[in-house]
Amino acid sequence: MKPTAIVYTSNTGFTARYAALLSEETGLPAYSIKDAGKNLAKGASVIYLGWLFATNVKDYDKASRKYDICAVCGVGLCTTGSLLTEVRQTAKIPEGLPLFTVQGGMNHEKLKGLYKFMINALTKILLSKTQKTDDEKAMLALLQKGGDYVDKANLKELLHWYENIA
Ligand SMILES: Cc1cc2nc3c(=O)[nH]c(=O)nc-3n(C[C@H](O)[C@H](O)[C@H](O)COP(=O)(O)O)c2cc1C
Repeated sequence: MKPTAIVYTSNTGFTARYAALLSEETGLPAYSIKDAGKNLAKGASVIYLGWLFATNVKDYDKASRKYDICAVCGVGLCTTGSLLTEVRQTAKIPEGLPLFTVQGGMNHEKLKGLYKFMINALTKILLSKTQKTDDEKAMLALLQKGGDYVDKANLKELLHWYENIA
């Protein structure tokens, strides 16, 4: 079924910006999961966007209990289109449900509490490793310098899927 809205969860703003870009491109309204309840009926057909948290899509389980999710998009530090198998497995996203990943960013200033602690701990673990894989080196660089990788071009595959559904 064609989605009627976009629902998202964002902690530091990158996912919210992707939701806004997707809304611009599709004409679908975008609601944070907090506001969606006021605007959408239970069972509404939606595209769900959530930030990646330990390879899980934040609040996907919560959203899937309330809405009919047509496609999922995880926004992470990983490069666009990567981690698909791992995310599907961790988030328990059914095979056959379209899944996309796009690169968001890292804003240390907006991170607080447990999330900030976890990122600092992960940075320390990676720093202490004497033998780092290329992926670990790339992740460490992103964690340390932060950055903003939000780009409409990263939504290309998701938009292609959207344009081709019946
Ligand atoms: C505690 C924590 C865990 C994270 N785990 C992952 C991860 O497993 N994979 C990944 O690619 N990015 C991970 N990230 C990075 C976020 O998904 C990324 O910063 C994202 O753009 C945040 O989106 P937001 O601004 O909408 O909250 C993690 C970030 C935090 C704070």
